[in-house]
Amino acid sequence: MSANQATAQRKPTDGRPGGVAAFAWSPDSWRNFPARQMPVYEDRAALEAAEARLRRYPPLVFAGEARRLKAALGRVAEGHAFLLQGGDCAESFADFTANNIRDMFRVLLQMAVVLTFGAGMPVVKVGRIAGQFAKPRSSDTEVIDGVELPSYRGDNVNGFEFTPEARRPDPERMVQAYNQSAATLNLLRAFAQGGYADLHEVHRWNLDFVSSSPAGTRYEDLAGRLDETLTFMAACGLTSATTPQIAETDFFTSHEALLLPYEQALTRVDSTSGDWYDCSAHMLWIGERTRQADGAHVEFLRGVKNPLGFKAGPDISPDDVLRLLDVLNPRNEAGRITVITRMGADAVADKLPPLLRAIRREGRKVVWSCDPMHGNTVKAANGLKTRHFDAILREVRAFFAAHRAEGTHPGGVHFEMTGQEVTECVGGAVDITVDGLTARYETQCDPRLNASQVLELAFLLAEGLKTERGARDRNGSPAK
Ligand code: PEP
Ligand code: CO
Repeated sequence: MSANQATAQRKPTDGRPGGVAAFAWSPDSWRNFPARQMPVYEDRAALEAAEARLRRYPPLVFAGEARRLKAALGRVAEGHAFLLQGGDCAESFADFTANNIRDMFRVLLQMAVVLTFGAGMPVVKVGRIAGQFAKPRSSDTEVIDGVELPSYRGDNVNGFEFTPEARRPDPERMVQAYNQSAATLNLLRAFAQGGYADLHEVHRWNLDFVSSSPAGTRYEDLAGRLDETLTFMAACGLTSATTPQIAETDFFTSHEALLLPYEQALTRVDSTSGDWYDCSAHMLWIGERTRQADGAHVEFLRGVKNPLGFKAGPDISPDDVLRLLDVLNPRNEAGRITVITRMGADAVADKLPPLLRAIRREGRKVVWSCDPMHGNTVKAANGLKTRHFDAILREVRAFFAAHRAEGTHPGGVHFEMTGQEVTECVGGAVDITVDGLTARYETQCDPRLNASQVLELAFLLAEGLKTERGARDRNGSPAK
C-alpha cells in the first residue's frame, strides 16, 4: 500500500497520548510520521515489488512464540528470572555459515548455564540474530579521500564496500536478509530442540579456543559439577526422557526494528487472537536514535503485540521513559517492555537511579536490561573502534549497584558478541592489547566481545546475581 492510500484510510482517535496527532494504528500508519535513519530507495517500483514479495512469504516466527517470550519476560520484570540477550552488532551476508550460527548458539548456552547454575535463576535466552541487519548511522554519508558516498546501513540495505554501486540502497537485499533469517532460524530451532542443547552436552559447548582461557577452565569445572547434579537427578528419576527441560531449551530471536518497510511486510494478524504481530522476530527493539515518541518507529511498534525494547542512553529523562511507556504499553503489561540502558560506564551512577525511581514511583512494570557496549565505544590509537573490557564490566557493576540501592531487579544484559576468536575489544583475562586488535578485527560495525571475554563476563555476572539473591533472601522480599 502506498503512503497516499494509507493517508486516505487513517481514522482519527484520541488514543495517542502526549498531544501527538492521533490516528488509528495500521501496519502502515508509521508512514504518516517522521522516520529517521531510513534509506532513500531511488527505484520506488523495485521497493514496492520487494515489499509485495515479502508480504506473501511465510512468517519467520509465530505469535504464540512471541506470547511465550512475553510471559517469560513478565517473570523477569517481577524479579524471578534474568534476560540474556546477545549477538552480532550486525549480521552479514558474507559471514553466513552454519559454524558461525552454531558457535554463537554455543556461547549463549554456555553463558546461560553459568548464570542459571551460578545464580540459581531461570535465564531467558534471546539472540540478536536471524534478522539483525539494519544499522543506524550518525551521518547519512561517509567521506573517504574526498569521495562522498551514502553510509553503510547494514546488509539488508546496501553493501559495505566503499563504491557507488555497493552503497546504493537495493530493496532486493531485504529479500536476501529474509532468506538468511529463515535459514538461520531453522538451524537455531534444530539446535534448541533437537538434542544439541541437552544439558548432558554441556562439555561439548566449550569451544576449542575458549577451553584454554581462564574462563574456559572455570567453565569445565562448572560443567563437571553440573554432570554430578544430572547423575544425582537421574538417580531420582529425572532424565532427558522424563523432563523435557533437560533435553531442550527455549531460544528466541530479536533485532532492532529499524528498516520499517521490511518490518511492515512481515507484520501479520494472528488467527488465534486477532492481534497484529511483527513476525520477523520474537522481540523487536527501538534504537537510541529512533525512539522519538512522535516518530515513525514508535508508531509502528505500538501496534504490534510482540515484546518490545527501547534503548535508553544518557540523555533520556524520566519523563521521556514514561511517555514511551504510555505509548508502547498503555495497559502496563509485565513483559511487554524492556528498557535497555546504555549510559556509558561513567554515567550510570548519575543517570540510572532517577529513571529507576520514576518508574517505581509510577508503578510501571518493565524489565531493566544493561547494554554495556554502546556507551563505551572509543577509538584506539591505531584508529580502530574498540571497547575496553574494564569499561564494559564497570557499566555492568554500576548497573547492579544502582538496582541494589533502589531495591529494583537488575533484569538482564544485552551484549554484542560472537562465538569466534576475534580481537575487537581490548582487555579481559585473554588480555587483547591495542596492538593485538588488528589480528582478527572482523566486524563490519561495532566491536564485539569474543567468546572467552563474554564467558568471563558471565561468571562475573553470576556473582552479581548471587549477591542480589542473597540480599533479597535476607530482606525476605522480591525485588520490585
Ligand atoms: C545497537 O544495538 O546495535 C545499536 C545501534 O545501539 P544503540 O541504538 O543503543 O546505539
Ligand atoms: Co552496535
